[in-house]
Amino acid sequence: MKALVYNGPGQKALEERPMPTIDAPTDAIVKIVKTTICGTDLHILKGDVATCAPGRILGHEGVGVIATAGPAVTAFHEGDRVLISCISSCGKCDYCRRGMYSHCTTGGWILGNQIDGTQAEFVRIPHADTSLYHVPEGADEAALVMLSDILPTGFECGVLNGKIQPGATVAIVGAGPIGLATLLTAQFYSPAEVIMIDLDDNRLDVARRFGATATINATDPKVTERVMKMTGGRGVDAAIEAVGIPSTFVLCEDIVAPGGTIANIGVHGTKADLHLERLWSHNITITTRLVDTAATPMLLKTIQSGKLDPTSLITHTFSFDRIMDAYDTFSRAAETNALKVVIET
Ligand SMILES: NC(=O)c1ccc[n+]([C@@H]2O[C@H](COP(=O)([O-])OP(=O)(O)OC[C@H]3O[C@@H](n4cnc5c(N)ncnc54)[C@H](O)[C@@H]3O)[C@@H](O)[C@H]2O)c1
Ligand SMILES: [Zn+2]
Ligand SMILES: [Zn+2]
Repeated sequence: MKALVYNGPGQKALEERPMPTIDAPTDAIVKIVKTTICGTDLHILKGDVATCAPGRILGHEGVGVIATAGPAVTAFHEGDRVLISCISSCGKCDYCRRGMYSHCTTGGWILGNQIDGTQAEFVRIPHADTSLYHVPEGADEAALVMLSDILPTGFECGVLNGKIQPGATVAIVGAGPIGLATLLTAQFYSPAEVIMIDLDDNRLDVARRFGATATINATDPKVTERVMKMTGGRGVDAAIEAVGIPSTFVLCEDIVAPGGTIANIGVHGTKADLHLERLWSHNITITTRLVDTAATPMLLKTIQSGKLDPTSLITHTFSFDRIMDAYDTFSRAAETNALKVVIET
């Protein structure tokens, strides 16, 4: 089969690989129908993710068809169409029993990281019963690919952890696919104001179309002052970090209102300052989270009912043999206006 392989920092190739096989009775082999590329894949290609070794097939998102179900898999059968979660979970360990699937002792974020991933014609999914979801009849499968990672991430790490309430004032720093997924799912709670902050004016335009009430280009040296002016000098109830660099985390510290929450989503590679000398008396909460994908079944229902429409996040579609072009387009988002690229086998 063909697969996109990480060959060390800065190196990737479309290679011929052996078909995956069932290792444990709870595994399933899924034939990929649609997959996509995540900002995290670009982090891996930069060499930022130490757990991902050269030789690894990348990808942790996708929709496919069960090719083979292991003998202990009961919920899925050959030919079933499935949504693949970026998080694999056994459903039985202490963390899984608490709904913290991201920390499953034999799973978590392993796909396209510690085990071969979804940017291939076939993938082995461990703990298939608890790591796959049935695709509803007639569903838009490209839209469902947005459920593998970005929608649950934006919703769980941003909206739920940020405790967004009706009437709340929210700032989302970073208008990439994750920041935009946060913006889309924040609307469930009717916040009064959502201010989006990014360097990329195209992404800020998209954010306004998705319901942002104000946007600020982060190159403006007065970002903090502008947020303060927009919020009557108070700051925001929820400051959501969706970039993953120290300066954007510090910006969240600068704009959070007393009693507010900083909800971090970004993957950070270096330390960021915590200004306790100012914040100690502000009654704030700081949250961090690796997506658990516990909200996936609920989000799937909102897509099926039309309450949530993630199709506007998809800007490009490529055939699988052009996956190298898909990477090129996705990695030059500022020039190509790419958000999510869908790759079809
Ligand atoms: N916590 C989790 O479970 C989880 C899951 C998935 C992704 N992530 C992380 O979420 C982050 C966002 O993911 P993404 O796919 O949207 O990434 P992305 O790279 O597509 O988007 C990041 C956005 O931040 C903007 N940006 C860069 N520097 C900025 C600055 N100084 N001020 C304001 N905006 C700035 C960029 O223009 C871009 O639009 C990444 O760090 C990713 O690794 C976390
Ligand atoms: Zn991802
Ligand atoms: Zn577990």
